[in-house]
Amino acid sequence: MKQILQIKDEVNQIVELINDSNYLVVFTGAGISTESGLADFRGADGIWTRRDKGLPPKKGKHFDEVEPNKAHIAIKELQDMGIMKFLISQNVDNLHLESGIKPELISELHGNYTLMKCLECDERYSRTEIQWDRELHGRGFRTEPQVVSQPSCKKCEGRIISSVVNFKDPMPEKEMKLSKHHTEKCDLMLVIGSSLSVQPASNFPRRAKKNGAKIVIINIDITSQDDTADLKSVNKAGELLPSVIEKLKEVK
Ligand code: APR
Repeated sequence: MKQILQIKDEVNQIVELINDSNYLVVFTGAGISTESGLADFRGADGIWTRRDKGLPPKKGKHFDEVEPNKAHIAIKELQDMGIMKFLISQNVDNLHLESGIKPELISELHGNYTLMKCLECDERYSRTEIQWDRELHGRGFRTEPQVVSQPSCKKCEGRIISSVVNFKDPMPEKEMKLSKHHTEKCDLMLVIGSSLSVQPASNFPRRAKKNGAKIVIINIDITSQDDTADLKSVNKAGELLPSVIEKLKEVK
């Protein structure tokens, strides 16, 4: 009983913060996709958590086998209601775009597994439009040797690589610039499903807080910035967010 009352109370507090805000930015991590069937990295059963215990990743689904879940849909509703001004995501699973988030309203800081890009002019291509065949051309990571038959950029003949950012790769300039711009403007940031372990991504909630924004963290576990959050909700994103949307529609 206490749990239900607590969720209700947290939903009311989050709705109040949203209604008092003028510039909501949402920040997501791998935890928002676990209810779609994808593993996260540092959660209880995450890929790195299991690796550090000498265990193989849990048998999960692949990116092209999963769909957006209720949490993704709720964020899309925040977009459609004109409440969410921008979305910063660390996820490469394409689920935010698949849920209907407008490309101009999201920065995928670590890239997107369906997207390739030109190393010279930054032109973006889907795998299909550039006819990238993983069997023939490999994964296209920047750190891997270029394969002769790999397609090159249609605009400048430059080298095409995967947009996915691996550790030690430089961060994508355009996405970082946009995320910084909207973080500076935000007065409320919903931080959903991220352990906030990886920089520079995890600097965005910190910078928002420093600029006086309110921070709400939604996570089933602890994060590195819980102590500075204005509200911490220990709930599954896919369970909490639909109730936030429902309440917002009630009070609108
Ligand atoms: N609802 C809310 N929180 C959840 C849920 C859920 N259903 N499922 C998992 N979580 C939480 C976990 O408790 C964890 O704290 O989501 C968080 C996911 O954290 P990470 O696995 O560290 O993922 P993320 O923060 O996105 O990692 C950042 O690290 O390995 C790199 O490039 C990778 O983009 C990734 C980056």
